[in-house]
Amino acid sequence: MHDFFEEQLEALRVRSLDRHLREICSAQGAEIEIGDRRLVNFSSNDYLGLANDPRLREAAIAAISEFGVGGGASRLISGTQSPHVRLERALAKWKGTEAALCFTSGYAAALGTIPAVVTKDDVILLDKLCHASLIDGAKLSGAILRVFPHNHLGKLESHLQWSQREHAGKRILIVTESVFSMDGDRAPLRELIELKKRFGALLLLDEAHAVGVIGPNGRGLAATENLNEDVDVQMGTLSKGATNRRPTLNAQRSTSNENSGSAIFPWIVGDEQAALDLALALQTEGFLVPAIRYPTVAKGAARLRITVTAAHEEDQIRALCEAIKRLERGAS
Ligand SMILES: Cc1ncc(COP(=O)(O)O)c(C=O)c1O
Repeated sequence: MHDFFEEQLEALRVRSLDRHLREICSAQGAEIEIGDRRLVNFSSNDYLGLANDPRLREAAIAAISEFGVGGGASRLISGTQSPHVRLERALAKWKGTEAALCFTSGYAAALGTIPAVVTKDDVILLDKLCHASLIDGAKLSGAILRVFPHNHLGKLESHLQWSQREHAGKRILIVTESVFSMDGDRAPLRELIELKKRFGALLLLDEAHAVGVIGPNGRGLAATENLNEDVDVQMGTLSKGATNRRPTLNAQRSTSNENSGSAIFPWIVGDEQAALDLALALQTEGFLVPAIRYPTVAKGAARLRITVTAAHEEDQIRALCEAIKRLERGAS
């Protein structure tokens, strides 16, 4: 390896910012196998525990038997097949939107959608804690990008005033998330919509961590607040929640005994090495809880990100809470 790569890796290591892939040898679920160990998995976004559901496995196998693997061409050439069309119609009906378009991942959805909505000379106003895919999509669009502090309506309003003044006649797109992926808190949707209407702006809402988790039938935050029609573009991803088992997930959220508007519970530690040490201590006790560090979160805002899913047993959640309390006592 070139020396400069070695130096770069070493610089990451000394700041406790190096990253490594973890090989999981089992299917996804409440318990997973890593090496020769079985760990209770509190790191997953498979909120409804459907990733290994036999009904979904069988449906995927049946679809492969009928349609094979691979689209054959891009969707605009000849790669749009009946299952894609049926899925999009079903999603639009479920979400109560005019139409839906599926991409291969949430990342691709952000990159494909944002540049289709705004372009060079338009303005994007983006919440500071938005996911990297939204930032990349915003950059790719070529629009002028301004970031507002997390959920800060006052600052957003002054950005909107500035946009109207300095970029009159251009489109203004507000980009935010329903449930923030590393903090688990929610956007003030009603107030955001009030602002976007006042300034004639558009709103793109990423429902990735809300779909399947909150709202009527898990339809997300826009549906919860009955604001579907006021959100111009809703984004989501099928790699996380889906649409049944919500009562079980709600029960798990209340078992975890914390106030969170989602299935995400951050334990903010601050120091990167301290977060890694705590993650290792939990792993020794049989729990997989990832340490989230810069650049996924701000420097010095490292945390353990705990996610509960419908697949967890209550006892597993209680055992994790006990282990965390022991570690907290040990640290103080
Ligand atoms: C808020 C948010 N949007 C988009 C994505 C990207 O989704 P995917 O992993 O399907 O590319 C993620 C992924 O974690 C996310 O947290």
